[in-house]
Amino acid sequence: MQRDEILETLRRHESRNITHVDPAAGWPLVWERARGCSVWDSEGRRHLDLTAAFGVAAAGHANPRVVAAARRQAGLLLHGMGDVHPHRGKAELVAELSRRTFGRWVPGGVGKSILTGSGSDAVEAALKTARLATGRAGVIAFEGAYHGLGYGALNATHREHFRGRFRDQLGGFVEFVPFPACATCDCVSSAPPCGQIATIGRAMDALAASRPIGAVLIEPIQARGGIRVPPEGFLTALRQWCDRHGALMILDEIYTGFGRTGRWFACEHEGVVPDLVCLGKALTGGFPMGACVGRAELMDQAWPESDGEAIHTSTFLGHPVGCAMALAQMTELEARGLVERAATEGAWLRGKLELLAKSGDRLQLRAVGRGLMAGLEVRTRDGAGAGHLVVQTMQRLLKDRILILPEGAGAEVLSLTPPLTIGRREFSRALGVIVARLMETAS
Ligand SMILES: Cc1ncc(COP(=O)(O)O)c(C=O)c1O
Repeated sequence: MQRDEILETLRRHESRNITHVDPAAGWPLVWERARGCSVWDSEGRRHLDLTAAFGVAAAGHANPRVVAAARRQAGLLLHGMGDVHPHRGKAELVAELSRRTFGRWVPGGVGKSILTGSGSDAVEAALKTARLATGRAGVIAFEGAYHGLGYGALNATHREHFRGRFRDQLGGFVEFVPFPACATCDCVSSAPPCGQIATIGRAMDALAASRPIGAVLIEPIQARGGIRVPPEGFLTALRQWCDRHGALMILDEIYTGFGRTGRWFACEHEGVVPDLVCLGKALTGGFPMGACVGRAELMDQAWPESDGEAIHTSTFLGHPVGCAMALAQMTELEARGLVERAATEGAWLRGKLELLAKSGDRLQLRAVGRGLMAGLEVRTRDGAGAGHLVVQTMQRLLKDRILILPEGAGAEVLSLTPPLTIGRREFSRALGVIVARLMETAS
């Protein structure tokens, strides 16, 4: 099938809400294959992927060692038996996740995992864990948050676009408070602690006084919300708030995890240790898998010993190919120093973006993000979000064979989350093209 026929077939047989087609803009590409930072389309053209496919391809698309692990495993055991008969890879993976998280965060720390089939599922496993461990139903989440679209996680995803039509089927157990964004900060002092931290803390106190709160769920950097980094001290203040109120701190590191921000996990920038962490995306480099990892004592307090009928499981839990890929992916991130690379290249990128942000006089540009989770927030001179320009730029860049995505409720952030392997020269050249296209779009 050629491109047009593929898109026409999708139009006929896939829910029309999934693939957006805009023939005039040449949108979308049909992906054929990918390797490293490159994606080839159905017409054989190579594109530079500055999205890492939603951050999944952290060690590069089709990383040879990850692919080899998947092939090896697929030939041995293609399906395990979820909560019944385990396999070796599942044991190795949960031990490795323990070592990478609580084992590094706390002296002698041990984590226990629930493996899942997506990020959304990992969030739902964490919400269930908090409910069981605390006996409290209430959860505090943040405006702008994106935690997935399954009926559990959707409760904590803030954007009306995703929730609105389903509101009458949501549980109503999540309360939202503002996410502190430096751009809109009302803090008069530039030194930490930011004034919003105390304001948000008071809003949370009021919620805790009105209903029992069992958990606070937060992305350490909001991803789909617009690459929003909270002010220094905010996660620490949340940790303290949770400790004061006997609530659990759930960090959604589904986007930020596995080196994206220049540390294995973004909470490490502030030395904050959560009670539960949700993982996904780059965990496997391409297989649909997530994980909820919690402090071992907490997990044991929450979940009863299985009597042969687990109360939380799924057919594909701990899929052998996903486990093999995750183990290979983590080995690769470590062996190639990709986490450290995200930090150094991220610092370089930040410098570049700050320079580029000064270049346009028609637009207000602001460098955002941390490590290789970065971008440019684009506003018109009067301060209005210019998402339409970001979307047009993204479409124009198809001709330059550069792939980017917008983030933020109004698509006002031109986001850059390339594979952590990206070469500086190619990236630098692409940045020049991106800003040139953005300016052309604005003129
Ligand atoms: C921070 C965050 N949490 C959860 C999710 C949901 O993950 P999934 O799409 O695998 O269900 C996403 C997806 O973008 C995400 O960015």
